[in-house]
Amino acid sequence: MPKSRNIEDFVSGNLADLKAGEPLPCDIHLYFPQSMHLMLWRTAGDLVTDAFLEKNRAKGIEKFWVYRGDSERYEAYVNPPQARESVTAPAHTIEVLGQHIGETLGTAELPEEAKAERIGNLAQEMLRQSAQPDSHRTQNLTNLALREAVSELLEDLLDRTGQTARHQIAEIWKLASADPDFEHAANVSTFAVLFAMAFGRIDAELLADLALAGLLHDIGMTQLDAHLAGKAWNTFKPEEQRAYAAHVSASLELIQQFAPEIPARVKTLISQHHEKFDGSGYPRKLNGFQIDDVAQLLAMADILDSFASGQWDGSRRTLKETFAMLEGLEQARTFPEYFNPDVFSAVISWIRSAAAADARKSALNLVETQAAQLLKESVKEAA
Ligand SMILES: [Fe+2]
Ligand SMILES: [Fe+2]
Repeated sequence: MPKSRNIEDFVSGNLADLKAGEPLPCDIHLYFPQSMHLMLWRTAGDLVTDAFLEKNRAKGIEKFWVYRGDSERYEAYVNPPQARESVTAPAHTIEVLGQHIGETLGTAELPEEAKAERIGNLAQEMLRQSAQPDSHRTQNLTNLALREAVSELLEDLLDRTGQTARHQIAEIWKLASADPDFEHAANVSTFAVLFAMAFGRIDAELLADLALAGLLHDIGMTQLDAHLAGKAWNTFKPEEQRAYAAHVSASLELIQQFAPEIPARVKTLISQHHEKFDGSGYPRKLNGFQIDDVAQLLAMADILDSFASGQWDGSRRTLKETFAMLEGLEQARTFPEYFNPDVFSAVISWIRSAAAADARKSALNLVETQAAQLLKESVKEAA
């Protein structure tokens, strides 16, 4: 029996919000407006099944009604406070930070140096946020938010600087986002651009070149034996390692063949994406400062996503786990100076300071306040 016969004592709920495999938190009702009849439909504790949801969706039922006195319990079921926090908080913050970066980039009155510093702080905070998730699901959402924020910023930058030729990036990006095989390329591109911004590199052409290099760096993989592309790197035999290394020159050959107009810097970045600071990389075993400083950022982004996605050893990791692992490897010296130690320790310091939630929050507040203040000042100056 419904707790009341009066529809005004009820609030509506959506069938789409019911969770298969979980019990109902309260009674739910159907209401027939023509006859003004209210009917108890399912009771608290009833298990919601996929079949139940599917059957009623097919019938066109979208809404049901919850007794007003139960609405708080129902609301907590739909939006559990903790889950809401952990699933969407980093993604939401990244979106906000991306907007601040966009606004800062668009502020014509600010000296270039101050702009670079501000954007550096915002990008560092974005990286911090990206390493917060404890689950793969939240990490995926966070990566998606990062990719979206960075691609929007690039589009913006390219529009402002009139780099029409480089609009190809937006096209490739769209393709990449639609194809799971390109997820690695999109992630590498995103992290490389974020690293550059976090170091205060905000030159539009440089960021565009880096983004393009990230998207295209592994296209040569399509020329490799199919079994190599899907195999974990740490299981490669020496001859497989050699065959795999050929993807770098294959990428460059494909670009030469199909897109020779691509800027020389993009080709340099791609040619060096597997070089290591200690000279153990390939194909040219460059070391230290022989490696382009921007190519080092691309290499770091590549390793980061390769470890996170399981390309390295078949295990997927959150970014938090990946950074911890990289840090451990660098410290254990089994992986000595894979990256420029100054660059790597800067990145780790940005990520690690995220460990203290309070510090993170106050840093974010500070950045937000500063960004808001900055915008106010620049608007005032412009007026
Ligand atoms: Fe590669
Ligand atoms: Fe790669």
